Amino acid sequence: MTTEILSVKAGIEKAKEILLSGGIIGMPTETVYGLAADGTNSAAVKKIFEVKGRPSDNPLIAHVHKDYDISTLVHIRQNYVYDLIKAYMPGPLTLVLESKGVICKEAVAGGDTLALRMPSHTGCQELLRAVNIPLVAPSANLSKHTSPVSAQHVFADLDGKIPLILDGGRCKGGIESTVLDVTGKVPRILRAGLITKEMIEKVAGACEIAEHKDGDKVKSPGVKYRHYRPKCDTALFSITETDKAAALYDSELKKGRTPYIMCADNLSEKFAGKNLLLLGKDGEEIAYNLYDKLLEGEKKADIIIAVSFGRCDGVYLGIMNRLVKSCG
Ligand code: TXA
Ligand code: MG
Repeated sequence: MTTEILSVKAGIEKAKEILLSGGIIGMPTETVYGLAADGTNSAAVKKIFEVKGRPSDNPLIAHVHKDYDISTLVHIRQNYVYDLIKAYMPGPLTLVLESKGVICKEAVAGGDTLALRMPSHTGCQELLRAVNIPLVAPSANLSKHTSPVSAQHVFADLDGKIPLILDGGRCKGGIESTVLDVTGKVPRILRAGLITKEMIEKVAGACEIAEHKDGDKVKSPGVKYRHYRPKCDTALFSITETDKAAALYDSELKKGRTPYIMCADNLSEKFAGKNLLLLGKDGEEIAYNLYDKLLEGEKKADIIIAVSFGRCDGVYLGIMNRLVKSCG
């Protein structure tokens, strides 16, 4: 199969044709690129799991356009959910709600909840409106690899496996949506992202963070897998261990290998003269650059030596979750 990359404008009719006849395509969103299929079509959804090599017990997010009547898909039992929808949707927030069973059982991994998201990406909205069905989509990478933030990244993983990638430009968010369980009295973050705990508290009054301890029944199966890993070696140091990071860099160089340090801009002087993958000045920039720099790094480096930021508040919570899984 040849894989075409077309702009949203040039490819939307073809995308619609493929999706409505049970095929799968790469689509842009504001967070990362998705691998989309008709969420009501079991055979189409199975193709997603096959192409990605994704474990079948890990459910998918259903994406809908902003005027879609979501009451046809889920039950909403908590009033704060309406406030969250009003405040943050469309946007990088995924709500886990009680499913009405319209989305096929393969997509929800046999569970009774559905993760629902309204992307704010204009091209994605146009596609969702054109098909007017919920499109289920995981990130458009091979399972365990770093998530794609450009059409070229999707192509690198899925060339020959899907017929079409809609190119909607570089993703503005850079890490995946916040997955929020809103079935209970207090919303619970299952996967941290760009809509932060603080932002949710402001609207819903309170917000918990699900802890994933060994032996717990996993509520969001995706979080139990190793994830986001670049193809080269990796190491991770905290911001208090810059000397150790520099020492590892030097010992790698001595072995004849090519190391790169990945860090925020404020450490660029500390590591002056070394190969650097600079992530930016603040949380938004770091989120935007993280996957892009990991994917750039795996091409250039034998080892990416990541140095963290000394923060876990706001968007840093989601960033640290990705950094630990990709480099830790
Ligand atoms: O930003 C995003 O969310 C991207 C774009 C493409 O929309 N999608 C994405 O999908 O990251 P994926 O499949 O890579 O991650 C979905 C996460 C997984 O951790 C999965 O376990 C969780 O959402 N999830 C999906 N359905 C769920 C459900 N019913 N209950 C709990 N967790 C769920
Ligand atoms: Mg993913």
